[in-house]
Amino acid sequence: MTPAKTGRGKPNALAIATRDVETAYRPSASSRKAMKLGCCYYPEHWPEDMWEDDARRMADMGLSLVRIGEFAWSRIEPESGQMHWEWLDRAIDTLGNAGLKIILGTPTATPPKWLVDTMPDMVAIDEQGQPRGFGSRRHYCFSHNGYRAEARRITVAMAERYGDHPAIAAWQTDNEYGCHDTVLSFSDAAAGRFRAWLEARYGTPHALNETWRNVFWSMEYRSFAEVDPPNLTVTEANPAHWLDYRRFASDEVVSFNREQVDILSKISPNRDITHNFMGFFTEFDHHDVGRDIDLATWDSYPLGFLEQFWFDGDDKRDYMRQGHPDIAAFHHDLYRGCSNGRWGVMEQQPGPVNWARFNPAPLPGMVALWTMEAFAHGAEFTSYFRWRQAPFAQEQMHAGLLRPDGEEAQAADEVREAARVIERLGPQQTVKAPAALVFSYEAAWVCGIQPQGGSFRYLELVYGWYSALRRLGFDVDIVAADAALDGYEMVFVPTLPIAPDGFVKRLSALDCPVLIGPRTGSKTHSFSIPDGLAPGGLRDLVPLTIARVESLRDGVAEEGDGFEVMRWLEHIESELVPEFALKSGRGVVFRNENYRYCGGWPDRPLLTALIKRMSDETGLATTVLPKGLRIRRTATHQFAFNYSSEPVLFEQTGQTIAPASFAITALTT
Ligand code: GAL
Repeated sequence: MTPAKTGRGKPNALAIATRDVETAYRPSASSRKAMKLGCCYYPEHWPEDMWEDDARRMADMGLSLVRIGEFAWSRIEPESGQMHWEWLDRAIDTLGNAGLKIILGTPTATPPKWLVDTMPDMVAIDEQGQPRGFGSRRHYCFSHNGYRAEARRITVAMAERYGDHPAIAAWQTDNEYGCHDTVLSFSDAAAGRFRAWLEARYGTPHALNETWRNVFWSMEYRSFAEVDPPNLTVTEANPAHWLDYRRFASDEVVSFNREQVDILSKISPNRDITHNFMGFFTEFDHHDVGRDIDLATWDSYPLGFLEQFWFDGDDKRDYMRQGHPDIAAFHHDLYRGCSNGRWGVMEQQPGPVNWARFNPAPLPGMVALWTMEAFAHGAEFTSYFRWRQAPFAQEQMHAGLLRPDGEEAQAADEVREAARVIERLGPQQTVKAPAALVFSYEAAWVCGIQPQGGSFRYLELVYGWYSALRRLGFDVDIVAADAALDGYEMVFVPTLPIAPDGFVKRLSALDCPVLIGPRTGSKTHSFSIPDGLAPGGLRDLVPLTIARVESLRDGVAEEGDGFEVMRWLEHIESELVPEFALKSGRGVVFRNENYRYCGGWPDRPLLTALIKRMSDETGLATTVLPKGLRIRRTATHQFAFNYSSEPVLFEQTGQTIAPASFAITALTT
């Protein structure tokens, strides 16, 4: 039997708890840079005579980065063509003179009123056909050529003005593409570009009709000009129509972003370009955007996400001041896989947010914990949103590092603590995780377009698999469906209804355990059931046929021996003897060599059993972690994070970790 591997080295005997760092750490001699800290700042919100003091206080707090500018268009250009750079020149100089490096945002998320008035049809139109009015932000349509020209113009102007300023370290394009449900627009502009997109893809209306199978309900078109967006139909539109509309809308985000990237990289070379992605958000293909930028960043609001998303009442109560223990890590691992391993946190919640239904304050220690967790996952920086809480306008209830009166808020000391630990610990090298989890934006769209069961939610499925792996102590790389999978010790595909070309071939080249989830291979590229039924080409790996599927309403489960299948159940025909079956005898998990297919939505016990078997087969040791505890390893250290509100004993190292705290152990190889 293969001896159990523990990953990349064993924790050494010297366990170091958070508060011991002053004496325990030695600064690292490595030339790699340690994670930086920063904040989001809006000089245009504050009197100019505050800027210098703000900048000095940021640096004193241990911050070295500051993001500015992303909503400042109306102050940069109050009237068409009248550029008012002087205030921004002074803001940049003031921040730069304090030793801060600046991430400058292009202001295209907030087109000013004069601009909207010059082209009122630039606003996005929602699915009900209503315009997204002026008066907040993100009111533009990605497909409006006039707005695109304006976005390019302001990007060029900013790049020419500041592109070689020594304080400008990086650019952020726009802000949170898609926030407030703004990826899809059903405007005339979008319809026009959609038709061109279809023509480029299909060539003739006949080919489009055949691919979408528009004969169903007499939906055939005689020209591309006849094709509308799929909204406002009497009942559901053709799912193939919806899928192409989603692909198109995603491509619009990608090309909108690319226009800015092209300008910035040309006029302001040698500066990183990033965009700040959101949490639990799948409306466009972030892997595609990620390929065009230097590093992916994301906006981390663990308490808001816990409150707003699917977590059950127990989780919402138990973790209300910490966030569910996998929320931050899931996104760190997802976005690390979006941009060639380079990533950061552009906005980190420092206290209560303003936008969830309930907005509790983090437990003391959580801001430091979230910061260290980003560090442990390889972030290049963590930047807090925002420097000072604004006493006015929409976000006046959103905490900052400072209160509106300028006094420090609770997070400030935690930022200092994190800065100290990071400095003493030095740069961390991320290493390939033992487990790969395949993530696909297209899969999320397919599941959303024709869910077939009200609780078949893509993100929830993938998150559940991720969480099960982390509960067993594994680090995870979340990878795109076209990513290389070799070198992993276990591969997980929670679901991938449309297997990309070459996917089965790449899986077939693996000799590690692979777990494939329900609905994988169940659709063609054009949203039909494949010839020979699901799982299509995956049948080469696990010889079985999905004869029929059923969805189960909430509260109903089919029982197996020590596990349950919920939400989704497939009736599988196969010569194979099932590895896991329901009490009724129906097979749920089938195994052929190193491949397993799971034909249902597995509960935690079934997932855990499967992961344990796979780890045994590949010789990996599992560490069943107590509730609320999570670990993460870099090349040199193991980090343990306690998300629970009670002290937790981490048996592996013998440490008792305080609530909302972390412990770090040096690894010996
Ligand atoms: C983000 C956004 C910020 C701010 C923040 C509040 O979604 O990028 O501008 O609104 O949320 O939590």
